[in-house]
Amino acid sequence: MNTRTPSPVPSALDARYYTDPEMYRRECRGLFGSTWHFAGHASALERAGDYFAFDIAGESLFCIRDRAGGIRAFYNVCQHRAHELVRGNGNCRFIVCPYHAWTYELDGSLRGAANQRAMPGFPKDRVRLAEVPVENLCGFLFVNPDPDARPMADWFPGVEAELRAFVPHIDRLKPLEWVDVDEACNWKVSVENYCECYHCALNHPTFSTGVIKPQTYDIRPQGYCLRHTTECQNLDRMTYPIDPGANPHAGSYSSWFLWPMFSFQVYPGNVLNTYHWRPRGVDRVTVRRGWYTIDGAESDVIRRLAQQDRQTTVEEDVHLVESVQRGLNSKGYRPGPLLIDPGGGVNSEHSLHALHGWIREALDDDAVCE
Ligand code: FES
Ligand SMILES: [Fe+2]
Repeated sequence: MNTRTPSPVPSALDARYYTDPEMYRRECRGLFGSTWHFAGHASALERAGDYFAFDIAGESLFCIRDRAGGIRAFYNVCQHRAHELVRGNGNCRFIVCPYHAWTYELDGSLRGAANQRAMPGFPKDRVRLAEVPVENLCGFLFVNPDPDARPMADWFPGVEAELRAFVPHIDRLKPLEWVDVDEACNWKVSVENYCECYHCALNHPTFSTGVIKPQTYDIRPQGYCLRHTTECQNLDRMTYPIDPGANPHAGSYSSWFLWPMFSFQVYPGNVLNTYHWRPRGVDRVTVRRGWYTIDGAESDVIRRLAQQDRQTTVEEDVHLVESVQRGLNSKGYRPGPLLIDPGGGVNSEHSLHALHGWIREALDDDAVCE
């Protein structure tokens, strides 16, 4: 007789993780300040003094190339009386605050303050911009507001080597097109939807029958990365032309979701595109899709693919995630069991079980952190 107690069936998370403003405030205070976030592409910072501003859930930062050729990231706030330093993007010889013209070197040290000579003992050397760690992953810049952040290679083991294998020309890529999609849902609802393909056959006919082969789909945790893999659809059914013999991965699809809010996705034909979730509040998120070509060269194939993706997979997902958010606000919702197939595969939610562990680790008071 089998006396073993079956392990409890994992269930979906309680609705409050997605609807409670206090949960969102907790994420802003904790999770977002201690994880790696996409800032922008290094090709926007070719010359010394090139900069661009970006935000992480409302916190403004900027990246800039310094005179030694390095890329730095700073909070976008003057150390005098807190005015923002830069807006948008551009090039500067020094970083000059628009309020009282305090001037910073490109390495963040204070070069000078107007009328500082009139004040003996002005503590110029004590003042410098608040800097955060930045990493350049194959041209994609990521920052982590935690000064003691472990490197991305620890968080996401193997990802750089795999990306380079799937996109042999990755160092030559530049952005061709950005597509912003607003969704009326919590950012985690949208991320969860991305991190399972249990819904694909029913909801994504173009993706399932004209891009990938669902019966080969799987998703596996790899550190704090969820790695999606599958093969391309039969060539006579592909919605765009590829040469699967061009290189070892030309006929495959792969995606690397990097917890908490970014994903590299490689469509068959070594076509790199990205997802970047940008929370706008507890029930608002903007998903920014990025499409890239060598040197940013014009490409009808990539433009058409970006448009097809926006009109099919992305549009289909907007309706799903917004419906889920409405459902999470229903008094009638009780979190249901996750469908976990021990063998994994496309019709399993084992990836969500991993994702929920990371969410709980970030938000639960009693969570056991690594
Ligand atoms: S706040 Fe920046 S110079 Fe005063
Ligand atoms: Fe989807």
